[in-house]
Amino acid sequence: MHRFRYQGEALFVEETDAAGLAERYGTPLYVYSAGTIVDHYERLLSSLRALNPLICYAVKANSNLALLRLLASRGSGFDLVSGGELYRILRAGGDPARSTFAGVGKTAQEIKEALEAGIYSFVVESREELEVIDRVAARLGKRAPVALRVNPDVGARTHAKVKTGVAESKFGISPEEIEGLYRQLPHFSHVSLRGIQFHIGSQIRDVEPFEEAVRRVIPLVEIARDRFGAEFFDIGGGLGIAYEEALQSGDPGWWESKAQWATPAHYAERLLPLLGPLKLRIIVEPGRLLVGNAGILLTRVLYRKNRPQKKFVIVDAGMNDLVRPALYGSFHQIVPVARRSGEWVEADVVGPVCESGDCFAASRRMAPVESGDLLAIFSTGAYGFSMASQYNSRPRPAEVLVDGANHRLIRLRESYEDLVRGEGIDEGEIAPGLSGRADGASGQAGENESLTRDQAGRKEKP
Ligand SMILES: Cc1ncc(COP(=O)(O)O)c(C=O)c1O
Repeated sequence: MHRFRYQGEALFVEETDAAGLAERYGTPLYVYSAGTIVDHYERLLSSLRALNPLICYAVKANSNLALLRLLASRGSGFDLVSGGELYRILRAGGDPARSTFAGVGKTAQEIKEALEAGIYSFVVESREELEVIDRVAARLGKRAPVALRVNPDVGARTHAKVKTGVAESKFGISPEEIEGLYRQLPHFSHVSLRGIQFHIGSQIRDVEPFEEAVRRVIPLVEIARDRFGAEFFDIGGGLGIAYEEALQSGDPGWWESKAQWATPAHYAERLLPLLGPLKLRIIVEPGRLLVGNAGILLTRVLYRKNRPQKKFVIVDAGMNDLVRPALYGSFHQIVPVARRSGEWVEADVVGPVCESGDCFAASRRMAPVESGDLLAIFSTGAYGFSMASQYNSRPRPAEVLVDGANHRLIRLRESYEDLVRGEGIDEGEIAPGLSGRADGASGQAGENESLTRDQAGRKEKP
């Protein structure tokens, strides 16, 4: 249950006044509630307690180090999809031995980094990837723990761009191919099969698709357990959250009318009877569920524009700060930080970016606002900042984490200098020796010319 409430006419984040945060740190500003994140984590954990689950938070939803540290301190593991995310969890004090590494396009370098870090398991998405993992592990003299990601071909009522468990999607391996891989596994001498995984998509609000996927995958899980000694079944993430009535969903009573939703309790109630008898470690990989309703984006109204056909409310946050509405047409509830009385209006809430798609809400009935007012865009804790960009050369916003009446800045607002970091105009300005000519000869000969940098910024030979 989230902890964003009005006290009188003012919006509070836990016991902290939202307007005060905007005054202090400026806007646009992401604000997260630590209590909400912990509450969501604990609810999921306790509903699945009978399975002794490992929760691997999906870092992609929000990868701020402070949030990762908060979840790690509660015992969470992590679901990673890149070397960069591995770097983040190591920086945050997360435990790679409680983390899985998924994603259809892991590079050999990323695989090496994860093996060296002691990853609990790779989640393998193709036979060719398995071959690369086997080779990299052989070179390091290690045996790589792997899980196979099954694509169970289960549809879910969610946005087409976040469905991942249907045969047409790029994710996972078909059940038929998995059976073939089982036959070939003994030839991969540097991998050991540790588990089976699926993840059918995101923002799924009913339990049936999860249940159907579990049923379909169980026969493969049993083979993995009995023939190869696999120890876990990872049922992915994907649990949906409230967007339409996000503010109201902070009220326990509101949930009573949502009896069919895939809440942690309902999800567990339906899956426990299927998963319990397997006697395996169960892993879940929630992202949105833990952090989505734990974050808001504060933005200030810059201007209003009234045309006979339409009214516009122009705010200082743009699609570069929060891309979900432009990317998925997604709905976010938008409320005033200080409520004022007056007649409601219908308006488009738009940002300053030079794109017509830079629109947070179209034809939205909303409380009256004036230039200078603050608005809170709800349900932006997941896939908000982590998908933000500098498009239109807009520095990315600051982030604040609230804990009761306390808060702390967990990411500085970017500066103009941040916008050009790593760019250079003159030859050799950025990396001496890394320039070249069209004929392939290097502008400045030297052994540096064949150097690249890995994502952590260390120099390495390709
Ligand atoms: C492999 C995997 N696990 C977990 C997640 C988290 O999904 P959600 O945030 O919907 O829980 C994703 C999201 O895309 C994913 O790709």
